[in-house]
Amino acid sequence: MVPDGASLTSSPVQAQSLPSFPALPALPSLPRRLSAEPPGWVREVDVVVVGSGIAGLTAALECRDLGTIMVVTKDELAAGSTHWAQGGIAWVQAKGDTIQQHIDDTLVAGAGLCIEEAVRVLVTEGPEEVAKLIHRGAEFDRDLAGELELTREGGHKRDRIAHAGGDATGAEIERALIAAVTADRAIEIVEHALVLDLIPAEVGPCERPAVAGVTLHVLGEGTRGGVGAVLARAVVLATGGVGQIYAVTTNPPVSTGDGVAAALRAGARLRDIEFIQFHPTVLYLGTGARGQLPLVSEAVRGEGGQLVNSRGERFMVGKHELAELAPRDVVAKQIMKEMAAADVDHVYVDGRMLGEETWRVRFPTIWHSCRRAGINPATDLIPVAPACHYFCGGVETDIDGSTNLSGLYACGEVASSGVHGANRLASNSLLEGLVFARRIAEQLLDQRPPRRPPAQDRRQAGLIDRSVVPAMQQAMSRHAGGLRDASGLDRCVQELAKLARQSDAEPGLESWEATNLMTVAAAVVSSARLREESRGAHWRDDFEGRREVWRGHLLVAHDDQQGLRHHFVPALPERPANGHSDHR
Ligand code: SIN
Repeated sequence: MVPDGASLTSSPVQAQSLPSFPALPALPSLPRRLSAEPPGWVREVDVVVVGSGIAGLTAALECRDLGTIMVVTKDELAAGSTHWAQGGIAWVQAKGDTIQQHIDDTLVAGAGLCIEEAVRVLVTEGPEEVAKLIHRGAEFDRDLAGELELTREGGHKRDRIAHAGGDATGAEIERALIAAVTADRAIEIVEHALVLDLIPAEVGPCERPAVAGVTLHVLGEGTRGGVGAVLARAVVLATGGVGQIYAVTTNPPVSTGDGVAAALRAGARLRDIEFIQFHPTVLYLGTGARGQLPLVSEAVRGEGGQLVNSRGERFMVGKHELAELAPRDVVAKQIMKEMAAADVDHVYVDGRMLGEETWRVRFPTIWHSCRRAGINPATDLIPVAPACHYFCGGVETDIDGSTNLSGLYACGEVASSGVHGANRLASNSLLEGLVFARRIAEQLLDQRPPRRPPAQDRRQAGLIDRSVVPAMQQAMSRHAGGLRDASGLDRCVQELAKLARQSDAEPGLESWEATNLMTVAAAVVSSARLREESRGAHWRDDFEGRREVWRGHLLVAHDDQQGLRHHFVPALPERPANGHSDHR
């Protein structure tokens, strides 16, 4: 359990001096609860899982022996980010690979901020969880001898990434998990249901704050339509990422940060949320393109694809020992530099050497996305640019998925388990979903948490109007994207504060999502403004490179008096014997 008032992020015994926080402009004022009609119905279950990607569905399957399990999802089961994962899932399996090598690759990518214990758990427990996933029906691509076909992506020093359907790995995993969950009578599924808020629980005077369930809005009429409440011994958040806070992203439309925002409103701490990973190669569809854009997987580069600039020159060679397969932040930054130097808004992936047959069989999803855009990857260069891809931080958890609120657990992209640090290693996220979902279930089975009565919810309700979302996304993309500096970030905070004041909104899906987006955006941009260094996925133009004083974690919480409030916790010392510090 994450202690209240102290973070589990790292040891408090540190000789390191603390960085001083620069002054922030006035932050947007954010509701502490979403305005909605009072619940018209109440259900009691043992565990409510919010979200239906790899983490949520695995948590539901693993929790089944606890009693009644409900999975609540905002759209259809398969609508989340897992379905879109292309590259694959990384785990140690090939001869010549080792657990320590996978750990080291993860730590190097994480740029000094991974929590090593969490990484070790991920890498050592991952293989068994993938075996279970295969047992549950997921079929990965194999060669003629029946061996898994393995590939490599940015930051991996070994071939250890398995894929399915060529570049449709997430879709296959999601298919298998949906089949398993829908066949399980212990698991109830509620689709088209947006979780609005966490319900505070009554606690004793010396107890930490706790949650007693969720309020939700279910599309449709009747005894289980409209706003209701689900009371549970445990709430498992697995709501995925926040990509829609930006104007362009690889994330689907449902990625509006609902779980992150609800957790923040309830008093949960967020960690490392300034580290938003921009995927280097997202299909460039012109300056007017908005929303979810197709990914051009790193696996294309893993199979030999190269990056070239507008003069047709390969530009990663000589910039990093792994060239096009350098960690994602390194490649994204170099692409942004190339674009700025030539005053253009994209570069190219050259995959012509792969030939049409390979493209069609190995990368059918990318092939079709390109063909729809009038590009033939076997004969044309593919225009690409970085776009928001992955939320490296999230709701702070320990290695068992517990948060600082009793009864609240988190896993998958919504969580900050400590495995990604300042920059996630490619294809570690599906593995994280499996491992930490199972650890939550194990803890719940072991501890059987009590059912707590709901407390009276005195939090101030409010809403932000949906009309402000495009301007908010533009401000985030312009000032808080892959390249950041103090004046742009200040401007972004000010623009968000102005937009958040337009708040005469009616309750409904769009204003609930708009409020969640604004809440997450405000927390991200303020954290990005405070961190005065460049590290991993957080690149400040006004602070070159890493600064030792900033080697630690920024935590964000929301309180009634001060609104968003930040706190810095130094990281544990790096173990030099690992040789994993990579001075980028
Ligand atoms: C990719 O296929 O390039 C993305 C994989 C990932 O984000 O882990």
